[in-house]
Amino acid sequence: MNHSHVITRVHIVLFRNAAAALTIKCLSRPRMPMAALLTVAGLLLPDAASAQQADGERLFRQRCGTCHAMEAGQNRAGPHLSGIIGRTAGSVEGARYSAAMRESGVVWDRQALDTFLTSPRQMVRGTTMTVSIPNAEQRAAIITYLEGVGAQ
Ligand code: HEC
Repeated sequence: MNHSHVITRVHIVLFRNAAAALTIKCLSRPRMPMAALLTVAGLLLPDAASAQQADGERLFRQRCGTCHAMEAGQNRAGPHLSGIIGRTAGSVEGARYSAAMRESGVVWDRQALDTFLTSPRQMVRGTTMTVSIPNAEQRAAIITYLEGVGAQ
């Protein structure tokens, strides 16, 4: 097996999860055998991923749930967000949208959601959604939750 390739892949996975990355960093002394490092990564990542998902659900309820439901057909002040990944912006029937959102041409993917939640009005000038999530980890957790629910 090519070791540098393994290290790169492990790091890519780890960068997606700051908590796990931190733990690995503490555990991985320079001479730690590769096998042990991989075992640690394998044990930690599933836990870290589900922790992020739980976190995302809690954050969604606190920060988005007043205005957004995850059930199709249930529009509140904002449109339902079921199946939001891959959905065209402003396309939910019966939801109240600004002209800015309907005409934005955005198709929601992880990157678009991240940009939108960082600063909605900067991305879609004239949107009526003003809530932003300045913390990148919290945004990632919420987006992972949206992705997970949409896929069910
Ligand atoms: C105070 C109410 C409110 C809160 C809280 C809120 N939103 Fe919104 N959201 C809206 C409204 C209203 C729209 C429609 C905006 C428009 O048409 O310009 C919207 C639109 C959206 C859209 C675009 C949907 C589509 O069909 O194109 C996404 C994605 C979204 N919100 C995600 C979120 C997330 C994630 C959160 C929590 C971090 C959140 N919103 C919090 C009111 C809210």
